[in-house]
Amino acid sequence: MELRTTIQAIRQARAALGTVGFVPTMGFLHEGHLSLVRQARAENDAVIVSIFVNPIQFGSAEDLSTYPRALERDVALLQQEGVACVFAPDVAELYPEGFVTQMSLGGVAAALEGTSRPGHFAGVAMVLTKLFNIIQPQRAYFGQKDAQQCAVVRRLVEDVNSPVEIITAPTWREADGLAGSSRNSRLTEEDRKRAPALYRALCHARDCVRAGEHRRTVLEAAMRSVLEAEGLTDIDYAMIVNPETFHTEGEIIPPHALALLAVRLGAVRLIDNMPLL
Ligand code: PAF
Repeated sequence: MELRTTIQAIRQARAALGTVGFVPTMGFLHEGHLSLVRQARAENDAVIVSIFVNPIQFGSAEDLSTYPRALERDVALLQQEGVACVFAPDVAELYPEGFVTQMSLGGVAAALEGTSRPGHFAGVAMVLTKLFNIIQPQRAYFGQKDAQQCAVVRRLVEDVNSPVEIITAPTWREADGLAGSSRNSRLTEEDRKRAPALYRALCHARDCVRAGEHRRTVLEAAMRSVLEAEGLTDIDYAMIVNPETFHTEGEIIPPHALALLAVRLGAVRLIDNMPLL
């Protein structure tokens, strides 16, 4: 496996590969990332993984410097998974002096994470546009845990006529239901025990829908009750949206509505979601 840190070097390496499945990451890999890599391996000639903590998708309130990093460990894991190349540029390689271009997104990017983290999706869209242009993969793989990010990326490739096929894989979960996230490593022992309440709150909403409850405000309150019973009161949002638009629509939830949560446990902000079949 090759580790490349410059655009020129990764372009050279990519040119020698056939169809490429691309897994963009910010590193500190977990089983969720590795399951994307395995799927990408099964569906393409070769896999390229990027490891880049993208500074422009972090808001000022978030501490970019405490985002967990473990490049050596990540590279060893990816080697075991049969990845062809890892692209791990430094910040100046992707955003050199003089870089001025910015993106502005509306629609599916406007609500939820778009409101809570202004500029976040513009940063994600910028880095992915650059990475897609540099690597030119056939397919790019994302986890459903970041459901709104998946919708934003699908919209992005459509809007800029990118030929990259966007594949969304199911959320990888720990045995107790907690969705895989690099941020989980920063939870205190006590918060780690409480964190599966997000999954339980989503399951509760889904069970209520299956039992015939379709009122949005009742379902949103039901999710909040599960979180609050676990002492999780710093709730950024607990919402049910139309998965096409990522906006709420009236009091009766639409078919295939999506429930989404963002909750702070100490310094760690976790998100999760579940379709309400
Ligand atoms: O989901 C992530 O880890 C990041 O948002 C991504 C897609 C790698 C872009 O920096």
